Amino acid sequence: MCGIVGYVGRQPAAPILVEGLTRLEYRGYDSAGISVAGPHGQTVVRRVGRVRELEAALPKRLAGTVGIGHTRWATHGPATEANAHPHTSGDGRVSVVHNGIIDNAAALRDRLSREGVTFTSDTDTEVIAHLVARSTAPELEERVLESLEQVVGTYAIAVLDAEAPDRVVVARNGSPLIIGVGEREMFVASDVAALVRHTSSVVHLDDGELAVVTSRGYRTFTRETPDTGREPTTIETSDEDVELGGHGHFMAKEIAEQPETVARMLRGRLDTRFGTARLDGLNLSPRDLRAFRRVKILGCGSAYYVGELGALMIEELARIPAHAEAASEFRYRNPIIEPDTLYVAVSQSGETADTAFAVREIKRKGGQVVGLVNVVGSTIARECDGGIYLHAGPEIAVASTKALTHMGVGFALLALLLGRVRDLSVADGQRIIAGLERLPADIAQVLGQEDSISDIARELSAAESLFFIGRVRGFPVAREGAQKFKEISYRHAEAYQTSELKHGPLALIEPSRPTVAVIPADDLTSRNLAAAEQVMARGGRVVAVTHPSVDLGEVGARRIDVPRNETELDPILLMIPMQLLAYHAAVSLGLDIDKPRNLAKSVTVE
Ligand code: F6R
Repeated sequence: MCGIVGYVGRQPAAPILVEGLTRLEYRGYDSAGISVAGPHGQTVVRRVGRVRELEAALPKRLAGTVGIGHTRWATHGPATEANAHPHTSGDGRVSVVHNGIIDNAAALRDRLSREGVTFTSDTDTEVIAHLVARSTAPELEERVLESLEQVVGTYAIAVLDAEAPDRVVVARNGSPLIIGVGEREMFVASDVAALVRHTSSVVHLDDGELAVVTSRGYRTFTRETPDTGREPTTIETSDEDVELGGHGHFMAKEIAEQPETVARMLRGRLDTRFGTARLDGLNLSPRDLRAFRRVKILGCGSAYYVGELGALMIEELARIPAHAEAASEFRYRNPIIEPDTLYVAVSQSGETADTAFAVREIKRKGGQVVGLVNVVGSTIARECDGGIYLHAGPEIAVASTKALTHMGVGFALLALLLGRVRDLSVADGQRIIAGLERLPADIAQVLGQEDSISDIARELSAAESLFFIGRVRGFPVAREGAQKFKEISYRHAEAYQTSELKHGPLALIEPSRPTVAVIPADDLTSRNLAAAEQVMARGGRVVAVTHPSVDLGEVGARRIDVPRNETELDPILLMIPMQLLAYHAAVSLGLDIDKPRNLAKSVTVE
């Protein structure tokens, strides 16, 4: 949600900022802008729409070597040029880009207006530019610090001031911000995707921390500590990871690379001899693991649905009561935090505000929380007591695919470990390990059916409304299937528990509203088939996502076959056709696959 970039060095800043913004466009794409400090003051250019629109509007000669940029996903005020970032002080001296929400913006606006400031936007961000410009502190870093002392809210900001044209000052409080360290040049970004082309050496700021960044280096500081001495770390992400690499869309690339990324995730984590998982990052001893009497999983959107799958795996393999809840709801009640519950926060980005808030609430009340997170060094990863990194690599498409598969695998590993310190036998542990080892090849086999799945997807895309049904292990798969479909095809798609159909939704069945039914080969197959028959009997069309051994007999449904793995792991594979159905439906509708309307990749605001 909103992307920030910054550059201080010897090269012209504008192309570097634009390239960085293009890489961050998945975080927000309502409008974009840059501000470049040159010999004749600052040049600010902003445009509604995509970064390419901004690029086309830039003056030919824009020579400055220091600048900041932003791609916006509107929160305060509509997507207009006036509301696009950077925001400037009245005299144009200070420009600011911001990600987050300033809670006391209205009060600050009132006060500044009374003092004679004229506002030119509806945003909360503009107050920061005016506060910095009105500060009389001698150094820019002090002016920013002084201004932020008046601000309540969440932010990642980068500030440019014509009176200190050799530097960018940045600050973080609740929204991600990193500094990239180059050779006599420095970069600023809200995530590594914008930096990897230039450097693999990054500095993660903590909440409450600021940094002054010049071409010679950086200094991190807080109000209390003039130099917090934060050292750079090396990131594994490469340029290739954030390129399309011959694919038409990032979503297609991310779906296709799953056999490889899942194999990578499993490397070194399977202990075949003892039939268990090695998860040292959890920082939990067997004794700690044995003491938990319950598991509570928190995530948002698709991560929450995979959390539901995770809860089932934990109950099946470890026989501990486990439950998943939307972190966005959890945070708004007064949750009971139990000392013998293991809390698990699941998130691709590691920056989702609702999930991060849930983590803080749990910790505040003394609970123990571990993370299943993809982005290394992200807020949630750092705030949890330990965790399992998903190692899916960068996920750029707004609709999540490979990260969800990795979450499923992460939960399987956690369930295995929890099971093996309890009642799960070594033989059962080894059975699950063998299943996990087969996953990459099984995923590849589903992907091998892409052509036939895309034919079905094309047919489904013609429907205005669809149902996705499944029960028990199949229900989270159906929820995720409906989520993916609606997100990128803009078709109404609704998930139901197969068992609930007859309690109401059956009234809606008709030929124009097809049903995608998850029908694995398990103890519920016959019941699932009976429900599919009921749908067909009422004139509904059915696409069965099933196993080769399932005989659809009289049902007359179209089928997508997924290889059979171990029953507990099957849902991970059943989700793969859902990705392909959504992707190809959106392709046939000619939609913007990687950047669906109204959505942003990581929702860092409430
Ligand atoms: C759906 C999707 C979202 C995210 C959700 C949580 O395709 O991507 O529903 O799963 O916003 O995001 P993370 O996992 O980054 O916390």
